[in-house]
Amino acid sequence: MVEVRAEKPEDIEAARKVSVAAFGRSSEATSVDRLRNIPSTLSLVAVVSDQIVGHLFFSPVTIDNSSLFILGLAPIAVLPDYQRQGIGSLLIQQGLKECDRLGCKAVVVLGSPKYYSRFGFITAKTKGLKCEYTVPDEAFMVLELESGALEGCTGLVKYRSEFNDLE
Ligand SMILES: CC(C)(COP(=O)(O)OP(=O)(O)OC[C@H]1O[C@@H](n2cnc3c(N)ncnc32)[C@H](O)[C@@H]1OP(=O)(O)O)[C@@H](O)C(=O)NCCC(=O)NCCS
Repeated sequence: MVEVRAEKPEDIEAARKVSVAAFGRSSEATSVDRLRNIPSTLSLVAVVSDQIVGHLFFSPVTIDNSSLFILGLAPIAVLPDYQRQGIGSLLIQQGLKECDRLGCKAVVVLGSPKYYSRFGFITAKTKGLKCEYTVPDEAFMVLELESGALEGCTGLVKYRSEFNDLE
C-alpha cells in the first residue's frame, strides 16, 4: 500500500536519503535543500509502511517574458529496492494533479521520453520551448495542464539557479 502525500519537515532527512540512494550522488538532494523554502515549490513523498521510499519535487521555471505559472518536475527518486512497482508513476500522477490544483498551467521535465510520454508529456520544442541546457530536443518535454495554456508562450525555459553549480 503506497501513500503519496505532501512532505513534512520531519520527512526531509529521509527524502534526502531516497534521492542519494536513487541517483548515487547528492547533487539532486542538495538542489532540493536549496529550493525548499522558496515560493511555489511542491514536495511530495511516497510512503510504504511508514517508510519514505519516494520523493518528487517541483519548482518554478520562467519562460522569457511570460508570467505564466509553470513548474519544472525535478528531481524524482524512488529507493532502488522499490523501483519498477509503479511508485514513480503514482508520485507523478498525484504531483501533476496537485500542480493543477495550485493553478500551474504547464509542467516541464528533462528526462527519458519513453518514461514521461506515458503521463502525456510531449517534446517541448513542438510548443516552441527551448531548454537552457544543452540536451537532445526529445529529452526536454512539456505537459499543458490546461489545453492551449501555452498558446503564445514560447522561448527559453530557465530553471531556478539553485540547480546550477552542483557537482
Ligand atoms: C525514474 C524513477 C523515479 C522511476 O521510478 P519507478 O517507481 O521505478 O517508476 P515506475 O515503477 O512508475 O515505472 C517504471 C518504468 O519506468 C521505466 N523507467 C524508469 N526510469 C527510466 C529511465 N530513466 N528511462 C527510461 N525508462 C525508465 C522503467 O523501465 C519501467 O518501465 P516499464 O513500466 O516498462 O517496466 C526511478 O527509476 C529512479 O529513482 N531512478 C533514479 C533517479 C532518476 O533517474 N530519476 C529521474 C531523473 S529526475
